[in-house]
Amino acid sequence: MSVMAKHAILEKNSILLLIGILLVISIGGLVEIAPLFYLKSTIEKVDGMRPYTPLELAGRTVYVREGCYVCHSQQVRPLRDEVERYGHYSLAAESMYDHPFQWGSKRTGPDLSRVGGKYSDEWHVAHLSNPRSVVPQSVMPGYAFLARTDLDPKALAGHMETLRLVGVPYTDEQIKNAAKDIKAQATPDDAGIAELQQRYAKSTARDWDGNPSRITEMDALVAYLQMMGTLVDLKLYNEKANLR
Ligand code: HEC
Repeated sequence: MSVMAKHAILEKNSILLLIGILLVISIGGLVEIAPLFYLKSTIEKVDGMRPYTPLELAGRTVYVREGCYVCHSQQVRPLRDEVERYGHYSLAAESMYDHPFQWGSKRTGPDLSRVGGKYSDEWHVAHLSNPRSVVPQSVMPGYAFLARTDLDPKALAGHMETLRLVGVPYTDEQIKNAAKDIKAQATPDDAGIAELQQRYAKSTARDWDGNPSRITEMDALVAYLQMMGTLVDLKLYNEKANLR
């Protein structure tokens, strides 16, 4: 039987043909995808990435809970218009501690991966409380209740331990001091700030929501938004990348 005749058997039997197609596609898929899980170079090494502080992590939890990802992406694609609008395209390493990641697939609002430092804390509080107060034509919903909701720190140590299980390098010391670090990061002039900054490089402490008498979910969310995209020094990254 010639090769063509053997092929005719496949072509005349739709089930066999289907199985053949599936086989070929899955081999192709495996060859492309499987190495990404093993190659070290899938995530390029960058300086500056660290796990979230407990307060930032709590803010991120609010972000996920409220479904901000439904309207906002956290990924700048390497296309010219995006880079001109949002800044350097996102690096894999920048979301390596994100579980679940918040890349998103829909932009009703702008990308947020580099929003840190773009506005003042006051702007974020006003905007989150009532977006129309600062952007009159905005269609974003208000989240004023966040400023009235005390942050519940009880679950945080457990959350950090769980993240450690999936590879986020939290130390025992960081987990043990979660509640202390939350207070330090949300209370100006707290005695624990030096320790917090020792445990988390480049972390800043202030009264994020403008109400020093309590620590709220608004404090946490603003702390999270203000650190987004600020950890990696992209100038240094570009210099290194060009040397290669
Ligand atoms: C229904 C869609 C929608 C949802 C849900 C939503 N947003 Fe927005 N967001 C927008 C739109 C539209 C804008 C642009 C207009 C404006 O600034 O209000 C925006 C703007 C923003 C900005 C300013 C970005 C910039 O670079 O100017 C921030 C920060 C922001 N949103 C944070 C959040 C957070 C945090 C949440 C969840 C608590 C959230 N948004 C939920 C639609 C949404």
